[in-house]
Amino acid sequence: MRKAGEIAAEALALIFDSIEPGISTKALDRIAESSIRKRGGEPAFLGYMGYPASICISLNDEVVHGIPSDSRVIEEGDLVSIDLGVRYQGYCGDIAASVVVGKGNEVAERLVDVTKRSLFKGIEMAKPGNRLFDISAAIQETVESAGFSVVRQYVGHGIGKSLHEEPQVPNFGPKGKGMVLKPGLTIAIEPMVNEGSYEVFTLADGWTVKTKDGKLSAHFEHTIAITEDGPEILTLHEKFL
Ligand code: MF3
Ligand code: CO
Repeated sequence: MRKAGEIAAEALALIFDSIEPGISTKALDRIAESSIRKRGGEPAFLGYMGYPASICISLNDEVVHGIPSDSRVIEEGDLVSIDLGVRYQGYCGDIAASVVVGKGNEVAERLVDVTKRSLFKGIEMAKPGNRLFDISAAIQETVESAGFSVVRQYVGHGIGKSLHEEPQVPNFGPKGKGMVLKPGLTIAIEPMVNEGSYEVFTLADGWTVKTKDGKLSAHFEHTIAITEDGPEILTLHEKFL
């Protein structure tokens, strides 16, 4: 899982270096797929429940699961969220990050910052003896105290031989509740944070999730292992600190 996480983080970093006005979302998908395969991994999203690409790329009011397309082009000011999964020798890694391209507006920048900060607040709680919803509550508190909202309909997840395993890891919930965290548990923590209301809907393509109110959304994700010494981030990369 460390290797799967490393391949995933490197592929995402490579794509982030390629994001610029004029590039299509499909071009970014191709860059990711070739980077993953070159390092001996496989794109874990490709074919998952029929998903047609290696990455999900969601712009502005798209929350998650946007499908790469040759006709969809990144523009200056876009809030871009990219999610990417890798399978390596049977084990999975899952990572996501958001960025505002060039000069974006102030609220877009703040939404991205708060979402990233909420992920790291959640990760801090992922240590033996704490409970699952301690992670959830830390994320929710960080997001809501900044005036944003946490998406309810999609959650983080256990991860290992499968991309999605038990337990579900919500980004909201009561501190002190949920399963006791133990060394060896591996989970993907992934806050999806909306500028306005947390309500979302799915487009007719069956995948793309958007905010109901048309306001912005951001997404960050890391795959982590709970160890005796606390959380180990398996998808760690200096670019996403
Ligand atoms: N976004 C999901 C996650 O991070 C996985 C995407 S499933 C796919 O857990 F089918 F869209 F690939
Ligand atoms: Co995930």
